[in-house]
Amino acid sequence: MIDNKISAKKLVKWYESQKRPLPWRANRNPYPIWISEIMLQQTTTKAVIDYFHRFLNRFPNIESLASADLSDVYEMWAGLGYYSRARNIHKAAKILSHTGFPESYKELLNLPGFGPYTSRAVSSQAFGEKVGVVDGNVNRVYCRIFNDTSDWWISTTQAKIQKWADELCQYQNPSDMNQALMELGATVCTSKSPTCLICPWSKDCSSFKLQTQNTVPKARPKKEKEIWIWSPEVYFNSKNEFLLIENNDVTFLKNKWVFPGNASKVKKKPQNYDYKHTITNHEIYVSVSKIKSKPKITSDKNCFVDIKNLSKKSPFSLMKKAAEFIVSK
Ligand code: ADE
Repeated sequence: MIDNKISAKKLVKWYESQKRPLPWRANRNPYPIWISEIMLQQTTTKAVIDYFHRFLNRFPNIESLASADLSDVYEMWAGLGYYSRARNIHKAAKILSHTGFPESYKELLNLPGFGPYTSRAVSSQAFGEKVGVVDGNVNRVYCRIFNDTSDWWISTTQAKIQKWADELCQYQNPSDMNQALMELGATVCTSKSPTCLICPWSKDCSSFKLQTQNTVPKARPKKEKEIWIWSPEVYFNSKNEFLLIENNDVTFLKNKWVFPGNASKVKKKPQNYDYKHTITNHEIYVSVSKIKSKPKITSDKNCFVDIKNLSKKSPFSLMKKAAEFIVSK
């Protein structure tokens, strides 16, 4: 059994000497911490750094974000995916610009886009609240330390992991403690090739003792993929602007601006297509064509947009790729 208090100290000491100098670790301002934590839920730390700098250059504080147009926020988010997160950031900034940042995770939970993870990450890192955060890295570290081979994603185990993370925060600075756990998972206790020989917790680790680190944690069953064929028909007007329609029926990019064209769910991937793109559980095979006459539009809404403003109106990689495909043809 590990002694949580001693282990917490050991891990924070390791973190202090080994942590990566990430830009959002520079100070305790809740605004950049919040933005980085949302971005980190979507992609790797390495990829986030550029997005983070670009976003903060454009919107250096909450007020500038709150008063921006959503289309400008989308533009800064283009390529990151999960655009509802960009929308929620914008909505929350509008509230925060009036109220200021609440300092407890319980109050933060009331803001758009603030779930338990984000609320706890912000309150511990910016305000020193002693609450643990549980992300994928923490789940993995927990399962290995205790050699937990069970279905770790079920709510009873998640509650156990949350309690453990909360307890560790009682013994150390909670910002360092939380980030140390995540850092260990991101850099040492990685999912594919854990480097146990350099791990500060190897002596405490049941999986290391039993040499089960390559099979623990148990693999979580994946949501089944849907295969789609999308055939966007790109039409330009005389000003060289693209025609877009609001997608009111297809399940991916629902209610977003897209090129008109047919989309259908199929059983097997097609043999011929221009490119493939994945959005959550949708595997989309795309065949793009340029058309000369304006297509019949079934959607309620349509508009024309030039290439420069496409990512403001429709920041999605799927659309960017289709536009680039046609322009380069
Ligand atoms: N993943 C998400 N947030 C993190 C942080 N602050 N430190 C390390 N990894 C993280």
